[in-house]
Amino acid sequence: MAPRHLRSLQDLSSAEFIQLITRASELKTMLREGTPHEYLLNKSLAMIFEKSSTRTRVSFEAGMTQLGGSSIFLSPADSQLGRGEPIADTARVLSRMVDAIMVRTFSQDTVEQLAEHSSVPVINGLSDTFHPCQLLADMQTYFEHRGNIQGRRVCWVGDGNNMCNSYINAAALLDFELVITCPEGYEPLQSLMENNQNRVSLVRDPAEAVAGAALVATDVWASMGQEGEMQNRRVDFADFEVTTELMARAASDALFLHCLPAHRGEEVSAEVIDAADSVVWEEAENRLHAQKALLEFLLCS
Ligand code: CP
Ligand code: NVA
Repeated sequence: MAPRHLRSLQDLSSAEFIQLITRASELKTMLREGTPHEYLLNKSLAMIFEKSSTRTRVSFEAGMTQLGGSSIFLSPADSQLGRGEPIADTARVLSRMVDAIMVRTFSQDTVEQLAEHSSVPVINGLSDTFHPCQLLADMQTYFEHRGNIQGRRVCWVGDGNNMCNSYINAAALLDFELVITCPEGYEPLQSLMENNQNRVSLVRDPAEAVAGAALVATDVWASMGQEGEMQNRRVDFADFEVTTELMARAASDALFLHCLPAHRGEEVSAEVIDAADSVVWEEAENRLHAQKALLEFLLCS
């Protein structure tokens, strides 16, 4: 039987997305209470990182350990990937040795190729196009603090990047309204916008876009691989900082989320991200719980 993958959120049904969020919260409680949950005893996860990571690497490694399994870190610098071994061959070999493969890479096509040639589940740990694992954690965080997001208004402020594309997928699956505000030339995938016109819109003015939002989310102005564009982007995104003034236009109980790492004074002010009631640290922690739920779902069901 072909394995299930998480190449993007489009690999999940709405019910499965909710199920994962619910299970993530259960696993969080079990960990806090010291309840054993070694559901992946002796299972192993290969993790290919072609880009840097703090949260993704640590949450997958710690998560596998807590589930009774183990993980293996691979980077191009110290594997044959860096010497040109095809991704398809890597998928064929790894999937004969491990129970799942996580990949953080540039092209979404690398994720697709790995999945095509792997006989075990492949998880997208971020590509230039999508970051589905972060959305599991973001939605878990929203549900834990505010309940179901269905019908709510969510505002994405800033770059139409991998996170923004994943917010569009989440809007479709969880049935929320998504308003995107970005400078001209920094829009998310056009096909995603076109396929989700019923719930996703583009509003150029950030103040107008965040009005009444129950959730405001943002991300860095230059993603990994775009470092050379930083100077230009600082100019283009100057009006897209999430400040206390901007948040004041959202709903009075609006949550602010940021996948991290953050650049204070660029996409978000220190006052917003470091507020006493900021949930971004819990959002980061939820990567651990959400991915444990995902691993359990992909490997045990
Ligand atoms: N949010 C996120 O994916 O963080 P890392 O780049 O540290 O993994
Ligand atoms: N958009 C960012 C997310 C980092 C977690 C990037 O791709 O670098």
